[in-house]
Amino acid sequence: MLKVEGLERSYATPDGLVQAVKGVSFEIPSGSFYTLLGPSGCGKTTTLRCVAGLEQPTAGRITIDGTVVAQPDEDIFVPAYKRDIGMVFQSYAIWPHMNVLENVSYPLVVRKPRPPRDEIKDRAMEALRLVGMDALANRSATKLSGGQQQRVAFARAIVRNPKILLLDEPLSNLDAKLREQMRYELQELVARVAITTLYVTHDQSEALAMSDTIAVISEGLISQAGPPRAVYDRPANEFVAGFLGGANFLTATVTEDDGNNGLAVFDGGAGSVRVALPAGIHTGDRVNIVFRPEDAALHFAANGTGNQVHASISRLSFQGGLTECHLKVGATLVRSMLHPSVEAKVGTEAWIDLNPARCTVYPARETSRL
Ligand SMILES: Nc1ncnc2c1ncn2[C@@H]1O[C@H](COP(=O)(O)OP(=O)(O)O)[C@@H](O)[C@H]1O
Ligand SMILES: [Mg+2]
Repeated sequence: MLKVEGLERSYATPDGLVQAVKGVSFEIPSGSFYTLLGPSGCGKTTTLRCVAGLEQPTAGRITIDGTVVAQPDEDIFVPAYKRDIGMVFQSYAIWPHMNVLENVSYPLVVRKPRPPRDEIKDRAMEALRLVGMDALANRSATKLSGGQQQRVAFARAIVRNPKILLLDEPLSNLDAKLREQMRYELQELVARVAITTLYVTHDQSEALAMSDTIAVISEGLISQAGPPRAVYDRPANEFVAGFLGGANFLTATVTEDDGNNGLAVFDGGAGSVRVALPAGIHTGDRVNIVFRPEDAALHFAANGTGNQVHASISRLSFQGGLTECHLKVGATLVRSMLHPSVEAKVGTEAWIDLNPARCTVYPARETSRL
């Protein structure tokens, strides 16, 4: 339904050329929920605005439902109002001088040719019913809560029954509780209207919970794309490991290998782990071993069989359903989760059991961390 190929967008600024998007390619099948996830400033909004037609790409090609809508080297650019797209912005951009129904009707009112008045009303009411706001159709837009504004913005985006829905951090202005609730609502709504959706967020839990596919973006390029679980379990590089979920990094040296598996000995004699080695890593190489906090099981005695790291507890943070435990392995901080019923004390020695199947090995020269 949406195909983006080699998308680039740069801006001339007083400080020189800023390359906001440096060659982004992805494809979204019809009805699928696709998320661009990345830190602030990595080029998410710019990509979305290029798809919407609010921004002209510098290079690349954008195709919507088989029609090329942007391709600078062919001088093709279809403006936003001629693209069949609905969009929800971070700010919602609800018009304060209109009531709820007028806000949602607006995309139909400005359509050429304009549909009959009754049809506009019927379709706007239908969109409001979908988001559970039909009872408030005549309310002034200024008398809405954050969650209600969000729903109105959503109804307005889908009222024309667009081919693609673009959502730019639509939940980031809501408080934590409402954000979680709206996440479920949005997910159900998108599934109900079965609309192809491109979602942009810096929030990894939103991305993991809602998406069919996540593309992790870093500095204007996609680092890795795939189903949430695949990207989480098998991060392609240390940036993805560190951005999507908590990640622990420990440096080690490979002291034996059989071509596929090897023994990695952690710096400072903290322990070792037998792990699968990526291609090109051999005995003598320096590596980073990356593992998730939820895969770092704590024990208060050595097991004597390896796949363990010796550590000391440096901080305990009770978070209700779990206790986050900070540990020091030499000078490196490592995080682990403890069930809140486990009694632990700061300063105590501990051993972290590593599940080799849940450890990923990267060459140590890649040390970009978050
Ligand atoms: N109109 C613009 N002029 C100059 N630089 C811009 C403009 N829009 C975005 N940028 C720059 O492009 C980069 C990507 O921005 P953006 O796409 O908004 O990132 P994100 O949405 O991921 O936070 C940033 O460095 C930003 O400062
Ligand atoms: Mg943005």
